Amino acid sequence: MPDPTPRHIAIVMDGNGRWARKRFMPRGVGHKAGVDALVKVVQAAADRGVGFLTVFAFSSENWKRPEEEVSGLMSLLLVALSKHLVRLKADGVRIRIVGDLDQVSDKVRSALLDAQSATVGNSRLVLTVAFNYGGRWDIVQACRQAMAAGLAPEQLTEAELSRFMAMAYAPDPDLFIRTGGEVRLSNFLLWQSAYAELMFTDCLWPDFDAAELDRAIAEFGRRERRFGDVGSSGEGEGAIGAGEDASPQPPHCED
Ligand code: IPE
Ligand code: IPE
Ligand code: MG
Repeated sequence: MPDPTPRHIAIVMDGNGRWARKRFMPRGVGHKAGVDALVKVVQAAADRGVGFLTVFAFSSENWKRPEEEVSGLMSLLLVALSKHLVRLKADGVRIRIVGDLDQVSDKVRSALLDAQSATVGNSRLVLTVAFNYGGRWDIVQACRQAMAAGLAPEQLTEAELSRFMAMAYAPDPDLFIRTGGEVRLSNFLLWQSAYAELMFTDCLWPDFDAAELDRAIAEFGRRERRFGDVGSSGEGEGAIGAGEDASPQPPHCED
C-alpha cells in the first residue's frame, strides 16, 4: 500500500474575488482572506508531512487585471511577507520563488528573494510561491537555458530539460488542487503536472482549510495512479471503470 500522503501538492488558489463579492466587499478583501487561508494551509500541510507545497499566487496573465487590483496584490504580498515570514521561518518552512521576476518591481522582487534567502536553512516544508509564473514561460526559459548551456538537439531529453525547469529542486506534484470551481489549469505547472492527480473543488480559496486539505489528501489516497501501466485492477475482463471508490465526493465546503 503506497503512502497516501502526497509528497508534493500544487494549488491554484482561485476564488478570492468571488468570496469577497458574495459578501458585498471589494475583491481585495478576498485576496487578504486568501493570505490567511494560505498561512493555515501551510501549517496543516507541514503537520501532515507534505514535503512540498506549491501555490499559484500571481500568474503571467494576471497583469491583465485592472491596475488597481494588480497594485493591491503587489502591496498585499509585501504586507503578507512582513507579517508572516518570521513565523514561517520559525516553523521550518523554506520559501522558494518561481516565476519571471524580471518583470516585477524592485521592491517586490527584493521582498521575494529576501524571504527565499531568510529561510534557506529550513527543510520541514518547501513552500514554493509561483509569482508572475506561467507554465509556458517555464518551458521556454528551460529551453533557453539548455541552449545557452550548449546542449546539442540530440542531447535534449525529457530528463535533461527537467533539469532546467524552474522547479528542478522538487519532485513533480502528486496532487494538483484547484479551488474556486473552474476546471482548467490556467497555465500552472504544465510540464511538471503531466501525471499529477487533478482535483477541482467548488470551495473558494479563502474557505479552504485543514479539513478541506484532509479531504483532498483522502481522495488522493483513493486514486489509483497507473502512470500508463495497467495497475492493480488491470487484470481480467471488465476491469475498466472498476472501483466504486472513484465516485466523486460531494462538496463539503461552506457557502
Ligand atoms: C485568485 O482569485 C487569486 C489571484 C488570481 C491572484 P481570483 O482573484 O481569481 O478570484 P475569482 O476567480 O475572481 O473569484
Ligand atoms: C489562476 O487564477 C491564477 C492564480 C490563482 C494566481 P485566475 O483566476 O487568474 O484564472 P482564470 O483567469 O480563471 O483562468
Ligand atoms: Mg480567478
